[in-house]
Amino acid sequence: MAKNKKEIRYDSRYPSIEDLRTRAQKRIPRFAFEYLDGGCNEDINLDKNTSDIRKVELLPYYLTSHTESKMKTELFGHTYDAPFGIAPVGLQGLMWPNSPEVLAKAAFEHNIPFILSTVSTSSIERISELTEGQAWFQLYHPTETSVRDDIIKRAEAAGCPVLVILCDVPTFGFRPRDIRNGLAMPPKMSITNMLQILGKPQWAYNTLRYGQPNFETLRPYMPKNLNLKQLGKFMDQTFSGRLNEERIRPIRDMWKGKLVLKGVANESDAEKAIELGLDGIIVSNHGGRQLDAGESTIRPLTRIAKDYGDKIRVMMDSGLRSGPDIARTIASGAEFTFMGRSFMYGVAALGKKGGDHTISLLKTQLQQVMEQICCEDVKDFPRHLISNS
Ligand SMILES: Cc1cc2nc3c(=O)[nH]c(=O)nc-3n(C[C@H](O)[C@H](O)[C@H](O)COP(=O)(O)O)c2cc1C
Repeated sequence: MAKNKKEIRYDSRYPSIEDLRTRAQKRIPRFAFEYLDGGCNEDINLDKNTSDIRKVELLPYYLTSHTESKMKTELFGHTYDAPFGIAPVGLQGLMWPNSPEVLAKAAFEHNIPFILSTVSTSSIERISELTEGQAWFQLYHPTETSVRDDIIKRAEAAGCPVLVILCDVPTFGFRPRDIRNGLAMPPKMSITNMLQILGKPQWAYNTLRYGQPNFETLRPYMPKNLNLKQLGKFMDQTFSGRLNEERIRPIRDMWKGKLVLKGVANESDAEKAIELGLDGIIVSNHGGRQLDAGESTIRPLTRIAKDYGDKIRVMMDSGLRSGPDIARTIASGAEFTFMGRSFMYGVAALGKKGGDHTISLLKTQLQQVMEQICCEDVKDFPRHLISNS
């Protein structure tokens, strides 16, 4: 009997991700909410991600016999309870104190994947302990080979089954709100930011309770007592954002588990991932936070899944906010989906209950779509696809 078997129950006051977003906005200081919520430049890519997914239409079959609709989905040898997971998000503890632990625990109990970011605020070891070694880990590419190898060894020792490497952050996205708020990597505590904190007592109380958020996974490589400026310099020196084939090869050689490339946005990078022996790709544009002039994710997803779906596991994130969005994305060719902001809105809105609520809500919505259109198995979604233009 699996230990992670969770009842699906959500709070009927918040039946949509937008409800959670609205409540989150009331509870988080503005600089932290805007870091979470924003895209880049004019937010064109951010908005298109969701609106293009929502152009996809599904065909229902009403006079067809129906036994049961099952959300269970196999991925990398594990059968998850639903075809969606929690995408890696940096600085999580800044948006809601202790949120990586809340979300990792909820993901484990609901038997869906949780991906920890290198720059999140809990360590690989802590998250692995909470998830009995089921959490995935996303690696920002370290400049120093020794740091890279050490982090990979730690992920392996923690039992992490899937390592995710990222290709869509060769530069930091241009994010006007963060610039205005003085929120850089790392965050700056200006008078305005302090005043915003005073207006959010629950957030302030929880921050005091759980302590100032830190890059826990990176702690062993960071000199002690850095001031904010020194910390910024440390981050710049520690990571070389741009990934290339030469940087991927040694990771492939070293990592015995499944290796996934996140941030794929075109066919040529998908093809390279296959040549390099990777196990999966996440078609993603970082939730519209990097290239405002880029395509929405559903567009390359459709092409990549068609051309390469039989050679590599194809997943997608960016723009999904509901069960119908998950259904539309899988019908368009993704085998699995991830969401970033939706879960952070949930935990910021409802604290400890936020992870469980958001996962339950999405499971309930997806189950309803499956039963409505007479789709008994997640693999059958493409049969229901009408169009995506
Ligand atoms: C606040 C924030 C921080 C993020 N930090 C990371 C990160 O550290 N590593 C990473 O691979 N992706 C990061 N992402 C991108 C997410 O993993 C994911 O691709 C994106 O959120 C999906 O879009 P959605 O928010 O519309 O679901 C971040 C996204 C947000 C919103």
